[in-house]
Amino acid sequence: MRATDIGQDFEQVLYTSQQVQERLTEVAAQIDADYRGEDLLLVGVLNGAVMVMADLSRLMKSHCEMDWMAISSYGSGTQSSGVVRILKDLTNDIHGRNVLVVEDIIDTGLTLSYLVSNLRSREPKSLEIMTMFRKPEAIQNDVEVKYIGFDIPDEFVVGYGLDYAQRYRNLADVATLKPEIYR
Ligand code: XMP
Ligand code: MG
Repeated sequence: MRATDIGQDFEQVLYTSQQVQERLTEVAAQIDADYRGEDLLLVGVLNGAVMVMADLSRLMKSHCEMDWMAISSYGSGTQSSGVVRILKDLTNDIHGRNVLVVEDIIDTGLTLSYLVSNLRSREPKSLEIMTMFRKPEAIQNDVEVKYIGFDIPDEFVVGYGLDYAQRYRNLADVATLKPEIYR
């Protein structure tokens, strides 16, 4: 669905699906160039990164494999709990492989720093991060992210895989919610 289909829930559309695709095309080209001739395993973080993974991988011109992890960091609200749990682990061993984590959004960076140290302990050949969106706080927390779709303001956003209480993931655009929706 598009933001215009249910426009009354949203404060502002930050990025249209077309703008997201255009930026992803650039990021995919960068990844293609950086991993030219190398093995590459994309690790998607469920559930939010499903859309990014699907689009990014199809915009790439070279081979990659895909695997998935599910971790919990948020409840159904909009605040990071700081507690990270693995709900579903990778299917494949990443030892000696080039791993690129594909994330939907980095807010405080708490989830990511847990994930990175967990994956590092499995001794991949390389480990990098791609995120579609990054909020300002992540920069303060010094999380090293190689590929970034967009830096966004510190507001709660939904769409393109991002949810509020499991809703709006199937919104093709990325938008901020009206405060009355989550209050
Ligand atoms: P941290 O703070 O650990 O959070 O970097 C990362 C995870 O929190 C969720 N998150 C959001 N989800 N809109 C969402 O729908 C947002 O604006 C938002 N900010 C953080 C998301 O699951 C992310 O992986
Ligand atoms: Mg996520």
